[in-house]
Amino acid sequence: MVKVAVLGAAGGIGQPLSLLLKINPKISELSLFDVVNVPGVGADLSHINSDSTTSSHLPSSREDKTALASALKGADLVVIPAGVPRKPGMTRDDLFNINAGIVKSLAEGIAENAPNAFVLIISNPVNSTVPIVAETFKKAGIYDPKKLFGVTTLDIVRANTFISQLYPKETKPSDFNIAVVGGHSGETIVPLYSLGNSGSYLEKLSEEDKKKLINRVQFGGDEVVQAKNGAGSATLSMAYAGYRLAESILKAVDGSSGITECAFVDLDNTAIKGAKEAKELVGLGFFSLPVVLGPGGAEEVKYDVLEKASAEEKKLLEVAKEQLAKNIEKGVAFSK
Ligand code: APR
Repeated sequence: MVKVAVLGAAGGIGQPLSLLLKINPKISELSLFDVVNVPGVGADLSHINSDSTTSSHLPSSREDKTALASALKGADLVVIPAGVPRKPGMTRDDLFNINAGIVKSLAEGIAENAPNAFVLIISNPVNSTVPIVAETFKKAGIYDPKKLFGVTTLDIVRANTFISQLYPKETKPSDFNIAVVGGHSGETIVPLYSLGNSGSYLEKLSEEDKKKLINRVQFGGDEVVQAKNGAGSATLSMAYAGYRLAESILKAVDGSSGITECAFVDLDNTAIKGAKEAKELVGLGFFSLPVVLGPGGAEEVKYDVLEKASAEEKKLLEVAKEQLAKNIEKGVAFSK
């Protein structure tokens, strides 16, 4: 029996994400929460003949906390795509003031109603919203760093697709699983193409093409924002990415071993194996790294990728760390 709650389920990401979760046979109860339109989304999904139940929860007013409480009660996993999306010209950090408040209040609801759930944060800027949730959970005395994840999976998905597009005859996107580390915004995103099977393909590129490829991963979201021409940011690919991480966590909880996904996790703790060593290397409290998943969540971070990275990638990491430090600090300060 697995209950999954989606907070922000009626949105551009929330709807396709809920659809993917609805057809996952491991999930027995899908609980949808939003401040608008969620009954319609719930009714629509409820007709799908998968074996899970669907419930929708819409607050009757701004003050109504009962809808969120019932959405969350008994949830094993909570995914949060609630917030406002990026419009053209906006950076993810411009979203901060609106989304920080939304995420904080939802985190308070989780602390009260589903303190043992795995929590996946999609609401941007992830570099700052994840520290906000961690601080909120700490204040409530329920924080388990192994269960909190910032979803950076879309960066990995893009990194795999974009290198494959450069070698369409020899490769498919699914041939790759690039380690993308750092954060989830612009230059904080560092794809480590030199490692693994992408290394030989990277080497064949000119210096200029290497730079273009890395830049495309870092700013891939902008391609979607521009193409949507004012209608929002990535939704379908983001929903797929959020689903992929949720699915991997559910598999690991069920006992599958050796599942590794990159995710933005807390390094300021000893609960996750390797977190201390990773913190010594990056000097930051949160970082996206390959995370080995187990029944309890994030069991171990594979920080060796940072040591094995090429000299060029190490330079990119320095730029990423400087920006990321500010983003993390902003989230922590907001929660104080
Ligand atoms: N509680 C629950 N849901 C909320 C709240 C709240 N307090 N505030 C807003 N929402 C809902 C909106 O009603 C909407 O249905 O969140 C949903 C967001 O959907 P969209 O506006 O379509 O935005 P989307 O493109 O899905 O992006 C959501 O994810 O990737 C990030 O940058 C993106 O932060 C943005 C978020």
